[in-house]
This record gives sequence, structure tokens and C-alpha cells, in this order.
Amino acid sequence: MAKNLQELIQKLRKIFQDNQINVDEVQELMESYKSNPQDWTKYAMFDQHRYTRNLVDEGNGKFNLIILCWGEGQGSSIHDHSDSHCFMKMLQGELKETLFDWPKEEGGDMTERSHRMLKHNSVAYINDKIGLHRVENVSHTEGSVSLHLYSPPFQTCKVFDQRTSHTAEAKMTFWSKYGERTPFETTASKENN
Ligand SMILES: [Fe+2]
Repeated sequence: MAKNLQELIQKLRKIFQDNQINVDEVQELMESYKSNPQDWTKYAMFDQHRYTRNLVDEGNGKFNLIILCWGEGQGSSIHDHSDSHCFMKMLQGELKETLFDWPKEEGGDMTERSHRMLKHNSVAYINDKIGLHRVENVSHTEGSVSLHLYSPPFQTCKVFDQRTSHTAEAKMTFWSKYGERTPFETTASKENN
């Protein structure tokens, strides 16, 4: 049980000291934190053009904890998670998650397996064995904020073109770190997580 974001981070650091983690335990802990904007507003920087990724904590090197801010209509491309665990907790608003199978070959449409709405305070989990996903804020009136944990941390992931299954590598960039806008951002990597 985590009563605020700081406590959540402390407990996550403890869990991830172990090399083997229990996905259910992490998911339950993240769910036990009830989103309080006072905890995270300083990290939640929106951009009008695309969703932003804001680094909150580096988890003693074991994980990255990142707040993503999704303006109305903003979404990711279809992407993988570089063999890492990915937990995603809703802090504000909702997000639509669409699952895809890994493409069997390039040149055709990608198969959409399912989709769902991620509700306030809920926690979703994905890894490469489960499949690929796209995440979108489909609201026309409300920005969404989500808290993502990636373990182990990764710097690049694969992105996929839905019509052709063409794959490219995308670099993870941060709009801000620890509540400070990241200076000199030159490459706006288009997508990921
Ligand atoms: Fe993702």
C-alpha cells in the first residue's frame, strides 16, 4: 500500500532490488496508490504537438519511472518494449490501449487483437511476449496523464507501421527530468511507449 507517490517510489525501489520480480505484486502496489495531482503536477508537462515523456525516477538503475502526458487526440505509434516489463498506471483521464500481434512478415496490415479503455487509477501491464500496443488519448476534452514503469530501463524500442508492418527503431527522449524541462532537445523522436 502506497499512500503517496514518494512512498510508491520507495516501495518500488525495494521490490526491484531483487532480480526476479513478481508482476502481480508490482501491479497491486501501483494500484494501491490513489492518484493525487499534488504529487505529480510538477512532472506533468504537456506539449501541444505530441505526447511528452517526463522522467520521475531512475529506480537505482533497475527501472525508469516516467510520467506521460497525452493531449486530446495524441497517441503513440505501435511499439514493442525492448524485452522489458512495462507497467502503466492511469493518473488522470483515460487512455485507449490497442493490442497487436507481432507481424509475421513485412508488407501487410498488422492484426489488431483487442482494445480496451484504461480507467483512472488502473494499472495495465505488457511485455513483448504478450504483444505490441498502441496507446491513445481519444478524448476531445481532457488531457490524460499516465505513470509508466519500465524494467530494465531501455533507450530504444521498435515502432511499427500499421499498414505495412514496416519496423523502425525509435529513441526514447525525455521532455523533462525530475520536474525540469530537458534543455537542448534536438531530436524529437517520434514515438514510443
Ligand atoms: Fe508501451
